[in-house]
Amino acid sequence: MKSELQRTLELVEKHNTWRKDECLNLIASENIMSPLAIEVFNSDMMHRYAEGLPYKRYYQGTKYVDEIETLVTELGKKLFRCKYFDPRPISGSVANLCVFSALTQPGDQIANLRVADGGHISHSPLGAAGLRGLKTLNMPFDHKEMNIDVEKLRLITKKEKIKLVVLGGSLYLFPHPVKEIKEILDDAKILYDASHVLGLIAGKRFQEPLAEGADVVATSSHKTFPGPQGGIVYTNNEEISKRVAQAIFPGIVSNHHLYRLPSLAVTLIEELEFGEKYADQIQKNSKKLASSLYEKGFQVLCEHKDFTESHQIAIDVRNQGGGKKVAETLEKANIICNKNLLPWDKDENTENPSGIRLGIQECTRIGMKESEMEHIAQLITRTIIKHENPEKIKEEVIQLKKQYKETKYCYTKN
Ligand SMILES: Cc1ncc(COP(=O)(O)O)c(C=O)c1O
Repeated sequence: MKSELQRTLELVEKHNTWRKDECLNLIASENIMSPLAIEVFNSDMMHRYAEGLPYKRYYQGTKYVDEIETLVTELGKKLFRCKYFDPRPISGSVANLCVFSALTQPGDQIANLRVADGGHISHSPLGAAGLRGLKTLNMPFDHKEMNIDVEKLRLITKKEKIKLVVLGGSLYLFPHPVKEIKEILDDAKILYDASHVLGLIAGKRFQEPLAEGADVVATSSHKTFPGPQGGIVYTNNEEISKRVAQAIFPGIVSNHHLYRLPSLAVTLIEELEFGEKYADQIQKNSKKLASSLYEKGFQVLCEHKDFTESHQIAIDVRNQGGGKKVAETLEKANIICNKNLLPWDKDENTENPSGIRLGIQECTRIGMKESEMEHIAQLITRTIIKHENPEKIKEEVIQLKKQYKETKYCYTKN
């Protein structure tokens, strides 16, 4: 047993050194919390239960948890300019499942995006939507524009009965046409999954889903929004908020992992203070990395639209051996990203899809700006197009990371 214990401690240490200190982290769905948010993450709340809503719990011992959850809710309403904010879903997929349970019945039909067109697996029959027993109708997608084809969708909505339209996604370069879709719907509601772009919404650099006509937002809390891993649902509609609250508890979540709440409060406070500057730099950096890679010969999608409005960049790497090969080669150089389906891929082509997806929110958070994006583009090009030894590039990445030890766009600890 001792050797397993030793190994466990060793693995954590190795992981921390590798991913935190030595890698360029370009996974679009990750981020790092601020020092203060990390400090309060490690509290006794990780051991406790608090079922239900603040001040109406089923267990004793929750008076401070009640206060902090109320604070989180008030801060969330302020930052996202909404009337009802619920931080209890414990992940983004769970948040989606809570909304599906609240607003649909098994057998209902929802409109979603294929995973290859950017939809998340939780919107699909394999994920939360399937668990709720929903039928899915894939929305038409314009590959060139990397967006939903509203005109074709309009024709479909005339013939098909749709209960809920799911917007937002995982491969998400440009705002979805929420307003235009709202206009063509009769009574279908819109669920906007803001998981990827929540920090950009907080920083007012992306569309405001509720203002444009979405009925409810479900989201994770840890991608461009640099909070603890978890989920949130927010809305302006009282009836929806009540139904979602009921779906969360007693429906899907019993205890909602309370240790997240203090870190969420800190992140909301820091986003209110620094969120706009952070979101601004994210957008500048993603456009810069995209154009640098494009100039160096990569097939970055959507050059005609300045590549991206989010933290993400999508690259067609079929000429370089496909997404699997490229992502694995980059990993050897300590550049971490993921292979990704692109719209022309078949859903089952997950083994070696056409693309890779890069996200620059974490590099931005440690203080990198446009000049560093140019540097990253060079490192990627030397590894993938010039076929330099990844081990050599890795040493350069480790040296580069030594200069970026601090987390920005947040308060310092003292
Ligand atoms: C659009 C979208 N929704 C939901 C999720 C799921 O979030 P979680 O992993 O917190 O369940 C993701 C995860 O990457 C996502 O990209």
